[in-house]
Amino acid sequence: MITCDSSVQLPFQAGAHGLACDGVSIQSIVATVGTPVYIYSARAIRDAYRSIDDAFAGYPHAIHYALKANSTLAIVRQLKALGSRVDANSSGEIEVALRAGFAPREIVFTGVGKTGAELDYAIAHDVGAINAESAGELDRIAARARAAGRVVRVALRVNPDIDAQSHPNISTGLRSNKFGVALQDARGIYRARRDEKSLQFVGVHVHIGSQITTAEPLRRAAAVLTTLALELRDDGVPLEHVDLGGGLGIAYEGRPMITAAEYAAAVLPELRRANLPVVLEPGRAIVAHSGALVARVADVKQYPDGRRFAVLDAGMSELMRPALYGSFHRIVPVSPRQTPETPWDVVGPICESSDVFARERPLPELCVDDLVAILDTGAYGAVMASNYNRRLLAPEVLVDEGRWSVIRRRQTIDDVLALES
Ligand SMILES: Cc1ncc(COP(=O)(O)O)c(C=O)c1O
Repeated sequence: MITCDSSVQLPFQAGAHGLACDGVSIQSIVATVGTPVYIYSARAIRDAYRSIDDAFAGYPHAIHYALKANSTLAIVRQLKALGSRVDANSSGEIEVALRAGFAPREIVFTGVGKTGAELDYAIAHDVGAINAESAGELDRIAARARAAGRVVRVALRVNPDIDAQSHPNISTGLRSNKFGVALQDARGIYRARRDEKSLQFVGVHVHIGSQITTAEPLRRAAAVLTTLALELRDDGVPLEHVDLGGGLGIAYEGRPMITAAEYAAAVLPELRRANLPVVLEPGRAIVAHSGALVARVADVKQYPDGRRFAVLDAGMSELMRPALYGSFHRIVPVSPRQTPETPWDVVGPICESSDVFARERPLPELCVDDLVAILDTGAYGAVMASNYNRRLLAPEVLVDEGRWSVIRRRQTIDDVLALES
């Protein structure tokens, strides 16, 4: 049995009759729904959520699941049922949270470059906190709140210049990144606005990056934020929480990975110095392992030098991470294979040379019409899909306790063209 380091049992396992998701045959789902299709395990989402919740059980905490990782309504409702709250990154994500049944106070609203309309929307709904990205944004929130006769709960996102030691494109806590305010400016920004009646400072916020695989950068971020919270207390700006953002990585390649318990053990001693409740915004660690993108081999090609390509009916339009970050995903055939493994380039059908899922990946013989599953695609998969090449968004299926249901149907060309005149 394959498990990941957080002892969450991985949902996609090969059996005698082919790959299954928590015991449900992938073939049988595909026979009805077709390909490409995203398939998720509700059980894996529950297990991953609980492993984080349990790790912080001895300390006041709130998990605000980061909707950007996967905001399909049925998935979001699963999280709601577990007691999660949410981190939203746009008014669209706030709307999803509200429709999934979250109370506005259970939402933190983060994101660079929030528009005036988005701020008004968040202010009108009285969300739990707006995590402001700059002094200017705080002032715009204050002005809009005054105009609306409201008091807004805010936190300031701090950029602590800490290297998350992740991929450069998903590191957000360095001075060279666009996120937050410089640490040395943060205290002054709070102090200068502490008498602003339309702002209620409830927290400090940091998010240093995603797919973080070691505890030390996360510990350092917690240390910096706790110190700032203590300084603000001295300045007469008492806070309600410290928001550590998300970032916990998962074992895409089976390499050693920080567990939720190790994460908690690293940050809790720092947090205890201020004894403020902690807000966590995990996304990937909750949903990544739960999902697989299942695709069909549409073509097989071999060059004279021996290089072989398996062209799938899914590409960067369905799963952008490999093209965007060169990210690694395990790829497994859905039917059992006895043939020896040889190197394959697994690619998509899009007219871009970056439309590649894997280069020279050892795989058994692949033939046209074979099914393959691209694993650990529950996070930053379906949410990043596009209609490039006029391709239609893939359906999504949720497996739960031996049953499965379509939680988003396949898009039709009429859905796409309905927006056009
Ligand atoms: C502010 C913020 N919080 C939380 C997250 C979720 O990160 P992860 O999925 O790595 O946990 C992100 C993702 O980039 C983010 O920008």
